[in-house]
Parts: sequence; structure tokens; C-alpha cells
Amino acid sequence: MTPTSVAHRPLRLGMNIDHVATVRNARGSAWPDPLRAALLAEAAGADGITAHLREDRRHIRDGDIDALMAAISIPLNFECAATADMQALALRYKPHAVCLVPEKREERTTEGGLDVASDETRLAEFIAPLRAAGARVSMFISHDPRQIEASARIGAAVVELHTGLYSELLADGHVEPAQRELAALRRGAQLAHAAGLEVHAGHGLTYENVGPIVAIPEVVELNIGHFLIGEAIFRGLGPAIEEMRRRMDEVRK
Ligand code: PXP
Repeated sequence: MTPTSVAHRPLRLGMNIDHVATVRNARGSAWPDPLRAALLAEAAGADGITAHLREDRRHIRDGDIDALMAAISIPLNFECAATADMQALALRYKPHAVCLVPEKREERTTEGGLDVASDETRLAEFIAPLRAAGARVSMFISHDPRQIEASARIGAAVVELHTGLYSELLADGHVEPAQRELAALRRGAQLAHAAGLEVHAGHGLTYENVGPIVAIPEVVELNIGHFLIGEAIFRGLGPAIEEMRRRMDEVRK
């Protein structure tokens, strides 16, 4: 595959609505409704909706995916673990994209990237039917070249580079280690692009730390959730998303 030119590539914003469901589930009620959040996000300029159906259904539930597939007009990025159950659901829902993530029951959020390099044969077989069904398969990985090269070899269309460590280091005031992590993310994006992979990024992104990630020219999509859902408490979801878009556009203009 020939990599496309990186010049003037638009940067998409995928809005992750998982934590609307987290709040709903905290009370076992019907609100706030993740579908309503998705429709608001769409109206506010999000380019896609991301939802992670976890094995323990701690936030998004199967019915949410049904509702999203039926009602949104922007692409759905279905995040899941590489299990047989999730493969069957992805084949039933037929979302635009399937993003494979590592999943541990005890974790609070997706910690670390998927180890594609150690599980190459199984993951190649796992994604084959998804690819055949027309899904853009994405691997949520670290910037480690071994993971990027393995993702390319198994035929993934996309890699989403995990920005969680970069975000945490900056939040903790470790500026130099954060710069080194950023440099590694930049090299990872270049390597992935050169290997013909579309490059996405996400995890832990906020208004304060998003700029340097936006400035990586190979990155064509950001997936952002927790910060924007939190910010929505103060400004409303639409304005929170619009401000993120404004910051993204400012760096890319
Ligand atoms: N991308 C992936 C693959 C994720 O698992 C998550 C977290 O669910 C995100 C992006 C969004 O991270 P955050 O909620 O920290 O913005």
C-alpha cells in the first residue's frame, strides 16, 4: 500500500461516549442517555462516535450499540477486546470501524496497548472476517515499532497510538519524560504511516495536552472521551466539543 501524502490532511474528532453510560449505570436508571450524547456530539461537529463494549458491560451495553447503529449518521468506531463474543457482535453490528483494545477486568481504563507482536497469528485470524465484512480494523497500541510492524503485517487498516503515558507524565509535571514520550509517538506515527497504516491517537487527551498530538502530521483521527464528558458538566457537551475542535483546527490550520 502506498502511503497517502500527509499534507493538508484533515483531522477527525471521534467522540467517546462511554462515560455518559458510566454515569447512567451508577444509578441503574435510563439517563443520561449515551445516544442523546452521540446525537449532540454529531451536531457539535464530531466526525465519529466511539463506544467501548466491555466484557463486563460496565458502561456501554449491547442495547446502546443497537441504538447508535440505528440513529447516528456519522461513523461508529466499535471498541472491543479480541474475544469470540465480541467478534460475533462486531459481525452482527457491522460498524464502520472496529478498534481492538486490551481489556482487563480489574483496570479502571484501558491500560497500555494491545500486544499485537506476541499474538500475531491469532489476531490475524481474528481480524480476517472483520476485514472481509468491510470494517476498518484498528489496533490500539503503544508506539513500539514491533507493535506497529506487527499491526501492518496482520493487515490492520489503522493503528491508534496510546497517548495515555504522555498525558499522565504531563499531568504529573514530568515535562522532559513527556517530551521524550511525545518524540516516540511522533516516530511511531511516521513509521506507521510509512507502513501504509492510517494513524489515530487517543487516551487522556485534554485541552491542555492535545496541541502537540494534533501537530503530528500523520495523525488523522483523535478519540477523546473522559475529559470532554467531564468538561460537559461545566459548559455543556456541545460547547465542550466545539472548544476541542477549535483547538485542533488552530494547530492544523
Ligand atoms: N481510544 C481508546 C482505544 C480508548 O480505549 C479510550 C478510552 O476508552 C480512548 C481512546 C479515550 O480515552 P479518554 O477517555 O481518556 O479520552
